[in-house]
Amino acid sequence: MLIANPRAARTLYPAELRAILSIDKARQSRQWLSHWREIAPVATPLHDLPDLAEALQIARFSVKDESARSPLGSFKALGAPAALVRQILRLHPDIDPQGVLAGRYADRLKNYTVVSATDGNHGRGLAAAARDAGCYCVIVLHANVSQEREKAIAAYGAQIVRIAGNYDESVQEAARLASAHGWQVVSDTSYEGYEDIPRDVMQGYGTIAAEIVEQTAVQPDTAGAYTHVMLQGGVGGMAAGLISYLWEHQGVNRPRFIVVEPVQADCLMQSAIQGRPARATGSVDSVMAGLACGETSPLAWRFLDTSVDHFATIEDNEAIDAMRVLARGSEQDIPIVAGESGVAGLAALRRLRGDASLSAQAGLDAQSRVLIINTEGATAPSVFRQLAGTSADEILQRQQQFSRKNHVR
Ligand SMILES: Cc1ncc(COP(=O)(O)O)c(C=O)c1O
Repeated sequence: MLIANPRAARTLYPAELRAILSIDKARQSRQWLSHWREIAPVATPLHDLPDLAEALQIARFSVKDESARSPLGSFKALGAPAALVRQILRLHPDIDPQGVLAGRYADRLKNYTVVSATDGNHGRGLAAAARDAGCYCVIVLHANVSQEREKAIAAYGAQIVRIAGNYDESVQEAARLASAHGWQVVSDTSYEGYEDIPRDVMQGYGTIAAEIVEQTAVQPDTAGAYTHVMLQGGVGGMAAGLISYLWEHQGVNRPRFIVVEPVQADCLMQSAIQGRPARATGSVDSVMAGLACGETSPLAWRFLDTSVDHFATIEDNEAIDAMRVLARGSEQDIPIVAGESGVAGLAALRRLRGDASLSAQAGLDAQSRVLIINTEGATAPSVFRQLAGTSADEILQRQQQFSRKNHVR
């Protein structure tokens, strides 16, 4: 399903949004995390896949590969850790933010507790950052988070609280625990009266956009390398973090933005239809665990409301097919470890290019240059192996062979 956003406009980045998310602040977050041991010291790869571009009958197809961002396996390593540093700085304005994740203030933070709900990746990022900062971390998991994801979070020393309900109920439980025990919620989704930390999380994601701008040498206020950028949505934070940066940088010449969600967790599409942050209409549960969110983040929605041109939904089996396509690679396309939630952009693009009328609606044609963000690698390795039909290690080996053969650095 594809809808055009009736409120999409092509304007300069509004001053009231710049006061919330800005390139300047994104630069700061990037700097603070640049020496953290859980973040790769170099930009994540921006792969061009010419064979896939040809198959999709477009001029260029690129993948910004966030599976290489961090041993944590996803772009979420940029969000919670940046927000934790900012929060600690609010409490202790005298500290050096660069020293927080190096553990320099562990003594002062040992009685500080942070808590969050997660469907996996955000919690892992928060747990790792809390461990390195020296504070205590509690993670609330809903019924559908796998044991494998739970173990990965617990490995960073976080205390796990399991609830019987869904993701939205785990968000409420984290808020309840925080107010009962005096803990600090570090959530990637906003709600009434709680916006500062989710803003800081989204600001952390700006690093991805900053690298794209550098890797494609886009000058300010000009059309960049891409005509279309496909962004997957859970609560909308990742899309908002990237869109805000590219919108501020490129202004009216920004690319077309298409937001993609699982059909069962379509809260962002529903928000576009209703003209305000809305709930999903489906069961919410999806193989795309990171996108299985039933409620839009109201703060993220402020950025998406007039900037997203189209909203698309995809089926779980389309995501699985897309995982296999990227895992396989080809003569000219490097194989990529792309997880269930990472491939949503490609899954939607394949659907749109397979239908002339949908392509026309989305303005996709043989001249289009399309970017997707592979937001995760094999964050749940056994699920990945089962769905992709091969292991992440095997793909990485083929990736190395490809790079040697093609002299890719
Ligand atoms: C791998 C992955 N991609 C995308 C998203 C979506 O991010 P957001 O919920 O900020 O829209 C998530 C969220 O958990 C995720 O884990």
